[in-house]
Amino acid sequence: MKKILVTGGLGFIGSHTVVELQNEGFEVVIIDDLSNSSIEVLDGITSITGAKPIFEKLDLKHESSVIDFFKKHHTISGVIHFAASKAVGESVEKPLLYYENNLNTLIYLLKEVLLLPASNFIFSSSCTVYGQAEEMPITENAPIQPAESPYGNTKQIGEEIIRDTCKVNTNLNAIALRYFNPIGAHSSAKIGELPIGVPQNLVPYITQTAAGLRESLSVFGNDYQTPDGTCIRDYIHVVDLAKAHVVALQRLLEQKNTSNYETFNVGTGVGSSVLEVIKSFEKVSGQSLNYKFAARREGDITSAYAHTEKANKILGWKAKSSLDEAMKSAWDWEKHIRNL
Ligand code: UFG
Repeated sequence: MKKILVTGGLGFIGSHTVVELQNEGFEVVIIDDLSNSSIEVLDGITSITGAKPIFEKLDLKHESSVIDFFKKHHTISGVIHFAASKAVGESVEKPLLYYENNLNTLIYLLKEVLLLPASNFIFSSSCTVYGQAEEMPITENAPIQPAESPYGNTKQIGEEIIRDTCKVNTNLNAIALRYFNPIGAHSSAKIGELPIGVPQNLVPYITQTAAGLRESLSVFGNDYQTPDGTCIRDYIHVVDLAKAHVVALQRLLEQKNTSNYETFNVGTGVGSSVLEVIKSFEKVSGQSLNYKFAARREGDITSAYAHTEKANKILGWKAKSSLDEAMKSAWDWEKHIRNL
């Protein structure tokens, strides 16, 4: 049974990935500092899979703790690195916090990964690296654009750090997965997204509005150059996204990668507007959503959806869930945590 380290394994995407890894027979060790997650998620994972992952509460910003961790767990076959700060707006206010949280930790981890007998590394990157791409759908070859926020910059620099390290360390095998917009929750409604405070992202804002926690959703801009005037994104079910990590990891473990640094888009290939997301929610929940149009949000791009052929062909992975299925799972989760 291969042992896989998942950093940030109690977070939104991390926890769903731990479930899929355990379902595929991997032994999982989670590192999480609980700064943006809850220890109860461990019970959710255990209840779904019937196996409790090993858990180490650890702050990756402390290099000595990272070194000690790998001394204890020297048989790790692969690392999936989710742990990072992810609020775009906060990153503008606190750039140093974001560079420290997202880059120092990556460097400390990579230094230890290089010393492992099997240096397999999966990195959480983002479609934010493409900015407003000229062509839709976006391929992996689309140019990387100057980042809109320190958060986005940490994803670009993170990719560069890994790519440069791979160039000189041929024993390191890495894959950067560029996520589009992850939404939804596990079908059991035992794990899901747990935003702290007011949600910044569309789908938790919708479900919290419907659950009565927020009065009304503000749709940021209806004067974009899109068919209905609202922004277009590629919303991917978090379980599909989690499965992409498992196949990427398997590619490295089976030494099927053709280069020691590869990048893949992880999206559905379908673009949906904000109004289409609202309509989907109303359809699956059977209730109408209170929303109003508001000014554009600074930093938002008009449209982003993935070209998925590279992941489909090379990883043999394809997103299966529709927008409706993802929205239904998000709503089931919201109802579960609010006892509705
Ligand atoms: N939106 C609203 N109202 C809200 C929240 C969002 O209308 O209350 C709109 C946004 O304007 C955007 C769409 O819903 O058009 C999606 O917004 P999200 O905040 O959910 O997602 P983003 O596409 O802005 O951001 C996501 C991730 C980031 C990542 C970025 C890359 O959250 O981590 O994609 O493009 F950097």
